[in-house]
Amino acid sequence: MTRHKTAMTDQTQHNASQNPDSAAANSMWGGRFSESNAAIMQAINASIDVDKRLYAQDIQGSMAHARMLAKQGIITGDDAEVICKGLAQIKTEIQEGRFVFSQELEDIHMNVEARLKAIVGEPAGRLHTARSRNDQVATDFRLWLRDQIDYSVGQIDKLLTALLDQAEKHAETVMPGYTHLQPAQPVTFGHHLMAYVEMLTRDKERLQDARKRLNRSPLGSAAMAGTGFAIDREATAAALGFDGPTRNSMDAVADRDFALEFLAAGAICLIHLSRLAEELVIWSTPSIGFVTMSDKFSTGSSIMPQKRNPDAAELIRAKPGRLLGAFQTLAVVMKGLPMTYAKDMQEDKEITFAAADALDLSLAAMAGMIEDLTAHPAAMRAACQKGHLTATDLADWLVRELGMPFRDAHHVTGRVVVVADQKDCPIWDLELADLQSVEPRITAQVFEVLSIDASVASRRSFGGTAPERVKAAVAEARARLNV
Ligand code: ARG
Repeated sequence: MTRHKTAMTDQTQHNASQNPDSAAANSMWGGRFSESNAAIMQAINASIDVDKRLYAQDIQGSMAHARMLAKQGIITGDDAEVICKGLAQIKTEIQEGRFVFSQELEDIHMNVEARLKAIVGEPAGRLHTARSRNDQVATDFRLWLRDQIDYSVGQIDKLLTALLDQAEKHAETVMPGYTHLQPAQPVTFGHHLMAYVEMLTRDKERLQDARKRLNRSPLGSAAMAGTGFAIDREATAAALGFDGPTRNSMDAVADRDFALEFLAAGAICLIHLSRLAEELVIWSTPSIGFVTMSDKFSTGSSIMPQKRNPDAAELIRAKPGRLLGAFQTLAVVMKGLPMTYAKDMQEDKEITFAAADALDLSLAAMAGMIEDLTAHPAAMRAACQKGHLTATDLADWLVRELGMPFRDAHHVTGRVVVVADQKDCPIWDLELADLQSVEPRITAQVFEVLSIDASVASRRSFGGTAPERVKAAVAEARARLNV
């Protein structure tokens, strides 16, 4: 069995060396593998359909590597120049859609290298000196994800700007604030939107923080042990905009934390977006009518002519599973993998690319929806009539003015609410006599704190909903976030 296989290998090696470009033998392997890959092997092994998305980073990394090799005297300056020219041509070919990607060449790295050989000949073979696809792919992927993070941060900034603009406009617009989706206390719409500014600020910070750890260059870790060539890893790291090289060659080729961190941060961000999306869905239903979504982000019904469906918001609400699933999928790929690189890790890109696309689209759609959103302050104010939103203000007044323990004040207020419900009016529309029937010491002065506007205006504690606080929070956030 073994002999037979060896014999076959020898035979094909012979054929391959006669015809290095034969489709039957993958020439990148120097003929070591005999038979052309079975179609199934090719299907499971090849990643080119996915990782061609890394072409720009792959070429950028190769150029930096070639120049460093020349500077270190490992290849000649002429070879480096020829290699870089060839790589630039390949980049153009890919950008112009003229490049023919080959499944047989497995991945972007080998597709580019094979094409380089076809263009520049012998020097192409020198490019892979002191490098492996293991450090190459880790470098490419980090470069790609760094751009992605920067893009996502920019997208978050756009959404933050839209939220801040609306929050500023509606710093005085009162609406019911909810807990358990039950009317709780009056707030301003601006304050409510500023809650999302906080969430998205944390999302942005998480991405920026992940970027710091990502921004180290694996290039020069080679297969996993480093290299005997006198390379300059600082130089390639600097050329590629990294803060420096990774410290351990084994970790460098085996690590995908940077992708996991991106997916985790992205998942949390989408969880936030889904909550806002859900609120938009609730707010825009006509029986609530707090907002109207713009036509651009609404759809009609094929049968009910009156409908305005918040499809974009619903789809954002549905997206977090993609990011959470991507995190889980990649985490399961990575768990239990022995040091160092294993082909399992090739799955990282398909998972991450799809997740990044979902995040990008969701952020773009949400920014657009918030920018175009029309709020209806009258409907929000009208909704404040239900639910005795200033009951807490009454209890606080009893504490402040009558010296009642808060628990007793809570009890008294509860009884006032029962009276108001019997009379089918909000507590602030009760007669003084009604209030005094529950607690005789209540005076007419209480009405000063029972109105919606008085309640909102009184909440001046740091982080509170008072319009002046909201305006200050918007200004502070604009300055801090630079948006
Ligand atoms: N396509 C591979 C990946 O994405 C590149 C690295 C392959 N390395 C190897 N030793 N087979 O992971």
